[in-house]
Amino acid sequence: MTETISYKEQINTDNLPEHIAIIMDGNGRWAKAQGKHRIFGHKNGVKAVREATEGCAEIGVRFLTLYAFSTENWNRPKTEVSALMELLFLTIGREIKTLQKNNIKLNVIGNIQSLPESNRKAIKEVMEATKNNTRMTLTLALSYGAREELIEATKAIATAYKEEKISIEDIDHQRISNSLYTKNMPDPALMIRTSGEHRISNFLLWQMAYTELYFTEKLWPEFSRNDLFKAICEYQQRERRFGKTSEQINEQFITNNLPKE
Ligand code: FPP
Repeated sequence: MTETISYKEQINTDNLPEHIAIIMDGNGRWAKAQGKHRIFGHKNGVKAVREATEGCAEIGVRFLTLYAFSTENWNRPKTEVSALMELLFLTIGREIKTLQKNNIKLNVIGNIQSLPESNRKAIKEVMEATKNNTRMTLTLALSYGAREELIEATKAIATAYKEEKISIEDIDHQRISNSLYTKNMPDPALMIRTSGEHRISNFLLWQMAYTELYFTEKLWPEFSRNDLFKAICEYQQRERRFGKTSEQINEQFITNNLPKE
């Protein structure tokens, strides 16, 4: 029998990724492997959502962003889209108590206007109810596409320029970051994608410029809290250089950790 390693104890809580983004992939394949309908996979995916959310909150991750429905997902069969929307609606309503109990704030990014009215209402209610929670922010990317987000940001900046509120020189990294749906969040330090696919799929394109990417063969419904901790352990083994050399990073580390006078 193979023994499962427990990764939680190996995590260095002084070096946690402040923001983790996840592409939850493989629900359909997981269901198919058991001879079930794709929707069965999505329903079981909700359990993994809970695992990841609780796991992040438990160790002190401040932001978790889940790619729950992309702009491209509207092209799926109508029955699957409706079932996903209903599942989202039910889950958001059902989880409000857990979010409150765990002091988690719910946030949603994406083209919210394109969602059914019932979903918009449920999202608004839960966001309002959890707005003062401070332990962690759980963001659901719904009807989200990074290119659409960048188009919206570009339009907002162009309008501000046209109305002479800003000059060309004011268009910098900060201006663009502040024009995105994610304006109040740090960029993800770690992005996890399940199911063995090695793609970013129109997710947080601007924000992931320096994100560490982690891919696992596990299908989303079987992704456990321990799998999340394993990904965090691997992240902690990596050296984030942001274009600098290893020597510069080590020097910076020493300087930052010198005893204060
Ligand atoms: C990708 O698997 C998953 C989705 C498109 C939907 C994710 C939704 C959930 C996990 C359920 C509800 C979520 C929340 C946040 C309450 P896929 O269908 O593309 O799988 P496949 O690649 O195997 O076909």
